[in-house]
Amino acid sequence: MTKPFIQDLVNDMTLDEKLAQLTQLGPHYWGLDDTVDLTGPFKELNIEPHVMESIGSVLNGIGARNVIGMQAQHLQKSRQKIPLLFMADVIHGYRTILPIPLAMGCSFDLEACEKFAEIAARESAAAGIHVTFSPMTDLVRDPRWGRVMETSGEDPYLNARVAESMVRGYQGTNLKEKGRIAACVKHFAGYGAPEGGREYNTVDMSSGILREYYLPAYQAAVNAGVAMVMAAFNTVDRLPATGNQQLLRGILRGEWGFSGVTIADFNSVNELIPHGAAQDGGEAAENSLAAGLDMEMMSTHYLNHGADLIQQGRLDPAWIDEAVIRVLELKDALGLFENPFKDADPAVDEAAEPCKEHLQAARELGARSVVLLKNDNETLPLKRGMKIGLAGPFAASVRVLGGWAGKERDSAVSLYSGIRQKTAAGDILMAMTGELGSMLEGFFDVEDETEEAYNVLKDCDVILAAVGENQQDTGEGGSKSNLRLSANQEKLIWRLKDTGKRVVTIVFSGRPLELNPILAASDALLQAWFLGTESGNSLADALFGDYNPSGRLSMSFPYTVGQIPVYYNAFQTGRPYDPKYPQVRYVTRYLDCPNDPLFCFGYGLSYSHFTYSGFAVETADRITASIEVENTSDIAGKETVQLYIRDVSASVVRPVKELKGFRQLSLAAHEKQRVSFEITREMLMFYGKDDQLVFEPGEFDIMIGRNSGDHETQRIWIG
Ligand code: GLC
Repeated sequence: MTKPFIQDLVNDMTLDEKLAQLTQLGPHYWGLDDTVDLTGPFKELNIEPHVMESIGSVLNGIGARNVIGMQAQHLQKSRQKIPLLFMADVIHGYRTILPIPLAMGCSFDLEACEKFAEIAARESAAAGIHVTFSPMTDLVRDPRWGRVMETSGEDPYLNARVAESMVRGYQGTNLKEKGRIAACVKHFAGYGAPEGGREYNTVDMSSGILREYYLPAYQAAVNAGVAMVMAAFNTVDRLPATGNQQLLRGILRGEWGFSGVTIADFNSVNELIPHGAAQDGGEAAENSLAAGLDMEMMSTHYLNHGADLIQQGRLDPAWIDEAVIRVLELKDALGLFENPFKDADPAVDEAAEPCKEHLQAARELGARSVVLLKNDNETLPLKRGMKIGLAGPFAASVRVLGGWAGKERDSAVSLYSGIRQKTAAGDILMAMTGELGSMLEGFFDVEDETEEAYNVLKDCDVILAAVGENQQDTGEGGSKSNLRLSANQEKLIWRLKDTGKRVVTIVFSGRPLELNPILAASDALLQAWFLGTESGNSLADALFGDYNPSGRLSMSFPYTVGQIPVYYNAFQTGRPYDPKYPQVRYVTRYLDCPNDPLFCFGYGLSYSHFTYSGFAVETADRITASIEVENTSDIAGKETVQLYIRDVSASVVRPVKELKGFRQLSLAAHEKQRVSFEITREMLMFYGKDDQLVFEPGEFDIMIGRNSGDHETQRIWIG
């Protein structure tokens, strides 16, 4: 039910004022230099000053002082005193930069994900931000795509749980509360599946695949009460999402009952034209408004063509009114009509030091997000007093915040600094620490100082090779066709191996890289991702065992880029490969590469050792699956017990397994616990041939284990 004061405002608005309310522009249109990088085309839009007074929202206008100034000036000129809505890309923290979301997905720790969002909300609210364009919950299977760093991975169930946690963390239960901001889930829908992993490329999939894999996490965010949804750049069934009525009005609003605000991506209304889905700006505006897209970002076709479209009978004025009402309702939910400055607080925003509590939390979130991929002969944890060699472009780099870190590009704790906190300077020797520049600036490799590194480090007790990709070569516009480490980085690792000392390879990246070429040279392998401000401290905690690694992969690591897409929840095909018969030719296989990834979804090691026993599936009144997990080591640790299910045969083919639950157990040394999962028919529902959710009786494989490739299995009939 629309509040009377909102209805009165809309009734009083001119058409131009309504169309301006549905338009979002960057701060430079208010004469402020852009506070963050532009991720799309910027053009002079020649907007009349009187129209600027009615614009509804600002993109990436950040900083308490900026926001207060802009809002005050706007309200002075706004005829109806409708406050501006400030939205920004707070993707993994604002002032305290947190681990990239792909790393947070590896924590399998939903409380940690909620805390991640709470911290980001508090800091960005103090900077005057009202809405964040997060969580990005696009399911991904192709690490060539640079934006895998911004999402929580390849699994619908994990993505859904993380999305819910982040919406709760950002929004709380009342947007008017201090330190809360509205969340905007993105990019609806299927943006994570561009052909070839090439940014902004065509997305094409069946509606069944879309519904089964890609939509659940957006729906989870909607069910968790997310305030906004951002439409994606890409096509969905040959129609750009931004102007796709079936997607926005049909599924999002019709089936899911979403009543919040939808917004275009940067210039994406305009991009209906190059897509070939609109002849001109008028048709782009017509298609987008007809599809139920409320706000236009960084283009002005609503403003420029709205009146003509109505006059020509191509646009129903009611679509505009309903969109304006939704925008005003969001402003009201945030309390902006009572307090248009909300939590903007220059004293907090401009404090000399970030909040200590947030830094400590960032350090802990980072430690939970690293994934120990190999640890032969207990190379790790490091021991204080060891002579530690440190080499590689990320040994002392502070450029490990990850993409979308605003202007704070180089304020992280480096790996060296983190280690130095734990051991004497004299116990650390360094070599070949020159940074790896960005490919966009022409850097494809580091200086080759391998021989010097060999000579300097050859007498150390253990050598850490800190390698990876430049953080600017990940994120939006960061697609790559080659996922290997650069030649000199691979050469360094192998040469360090020649010392005969233990080599620990630490990989800084925003995506799964192709690590097979250096795996045999690494006695231990730690996926470090980009962990944000406290990176070096988080890594040092994990390397020295002050935090026992508990991360599990949220995305498969391919053997080779030629294997992509490789993901765990795939279909079996009619000619499944059986590793017991490697000579059989006519089955689904490569001649030169395994079908399985190098490291599978859910995989990760710990310094503890966990055994699983007593797997049991009970089918009495309720169906439960349980197993006993024992920490057989002397080291307390966390184990993420994972439940997978396979629907063996159904009216459409079903994945060989699907994650349906996980439980993170904290086990003391030699402690054991039985963990139990209830299996409900709702869990087993899927989208049948007619895109309707169905449950079909039949045989199901129930699996519980430590990852998608290592589990117990029992087949049962469920009627
Ligand atoms: C960008 C991104 C989107 C972001 C928006 C605003 O191009 O696609 O994720 O939120 O523009 O910066």
